[in-house]
Amino acid sequence: MHRINPTSTPAWKELESLSNELSNKHLVDIVSTHTRKFKYEANLKDFRLNYMRNHLDDRVLDAFERLFDQTKLAEAIEDQFNGKKINETEGRAVLHTALRKNTNTPFILDGENISKQIEGVLSQMEHFSNGVIKGDLKGYSGKLFTDIVNIGIGGSDLGPLMVYEALNAYRKRGLKAHFVSNVDGSHLARTLQEINPETTLFIVASKTFTTQETMANAHSAREWFLSNGGALKDIELHFAALSTNIPAAEDFGIHSSKIFGFWDWVGGRYSVWSAIGLSLCCTLGYETFEKMLRGAEEMDEHFRHSTLRENIPMLLAAIGIWYTNFMKYTSHAILPYDQNLSRLAAYLQQADMESNGKSVDRNGEKVNYETGTILWGEPGTNGQHAFYQLMHQGTPKITSDFLASANTHYPLGNQHELLLANFLAQPQALMHGLSKEQVQLNMAKEGKDQNRIKQLTPYRTFEGNRPSNILIYSLLDPIQVGRIIAMYEHKIFVQGCVWNIYSYDQWGVELGKKIATQVLDEMVSGGTPNSDPITTRLIQNLQALRQ
Ligand code: F6P
Repeated sequence: MHRINPTSTPAWKELESLSNELSNKHLVDIVSTHTRKFKYEANLKDFRLNYMRNHLDDRVLDAFERLFDQTKLAEAIEDQFNGKKINETEGRAVLHTALRKNTNTPFILDGENISKQIEGVLSQMEHFSNGVIKGDLKGYSGKLFTDIVNIGIGGSDLGPLMVYEALNAYRKRGLKAHFVSNVDGSHLARTLQEINPETTLFIVASKTFTTQETMANAHSAREWFLSNGGALKDIELHFAALSTNIPAAEDFGIHSSKIFGFWDWVGGRYSVWSAIGLSLCCTLGYETFEKMLRGAEEMDEHFRHSTLRENIPMLLAAIGIWYTNFMKYTSHAILPYDQNLSRLAAYLQQADMESNGKSVDRNGEKVNYETGTILWGEPGTNGQHAFYQLMHQGTPKITSDFLASANTHYPLGNQHELLLANFLAQPQALMHGLSKEQVQLNMAKEGKDQNRIKQLTPYRTFEGNRPSNILIYSLLDPIQVGRIIAMYEHKIFVQGCVWNIYSYDQWGVELGKKIATQVLDEMVSGGTPNSDPITTRLIQNLQALRQ
């Protein structure tokens, strides 16, 4: 991989000077110039990005084309798709795209035909999930499975959880999935209250099969199963594992036919396309999962072969870099006007922040520019009654992606129209704001006296000038969900390439895990006091409060 400091490129300097000019203009004025009216849209069939409401113009897009060129993005994309070990700090290829490539052409990685391996696991998933849905596979008392409990955390939880919520309309015979992730026993305990051991399938999802939270929950689930009617021999009917660590899954007692493997070239936060999707196959049907793979594959092709102005993930990446590095915006909101995407922001927090939350570049040097994105969000319209106040009138500078589906799986009166009206209104309000004059006119019409008008005007004025991206699609079906996830994955990748960081490792999560082990020792067995006296004091305080 190339190791180019983006700030050393001529294009970066161009963008700096363009941002000096454009940051002083109101978005309404930028957008209304007749040269750009109704430009700035990109489509992948019925999936559409409208990025008109941003502080950019053709000069900015041209400069981004040069920046991508000067940071060798095209080569980086090919390196990733072709299986080069671009995750250099872990010595691994990054091939989640291979998981969704529908092809018979062999893909050889380190002497192995990984296409064959992928096909093998997919057909194991298909067979198993059909068995669960059709009832060929049953619980120990001969009853059909009704509940699937996925035990995993991070990428082994958020992907399937988000997609399960997104595609709930596709559920088969009422099969219900539960997702248990937190080491806080409340999470598992509350789930166990809702299920019956005779009709529950537990799926232990962990790439490493060593993650503290997942192992603790898996062992507790196993104990609960054994003390509520299940026998040791029944474990093989009620437990499956998804992991790259087959021996550890076997040691846990899971039958080899119920272990679904994947590989070290699948990053945890990019693993929903792998065996980690088994809970989806078992509840939504294998064909739904397969369609999601096809949607993602379409986005892969679109990303790999389109020019910047047509390329949805690349445009989103460019806009993100533009606002983060040049316009000095501080965070990015994900705002799906779709209750079914209620976990999208949480999913993307891991995908994006674990990937690009880095401050050392590929040369081992501390970066001298911003990287990473603070990402957050909630579905609309709920967010409107919570944090939109800050988006409209607060001081932090925030960018946002608004997403909505033209049609709904759940038509109820005119509620979908109400939802879409709000979806369209908010970005308009964010951009236009409301002028002092208009505010005063409105208050005069309300019959307010002049003193009150004068007093309230500053509070009721909206500056506007807040940018947004709009993503629309015909219906939130498996194809669109595949496209949405793959789109964001590629956006993250492009940003990591330009920022010259390694997006596919996550060393930053290690330290806290290590300290937790020491703290546990000190808490439970009075082991050597922690080197941090504040922690030791807090342990003592907590112990005093424990019953
Ligand atoms: O938090 C770090 C992390 O390694 C994530 O990257 C990963 O998705 C998660 O933990 C779970 O890991 P595993 O699937 O190995 O249990």
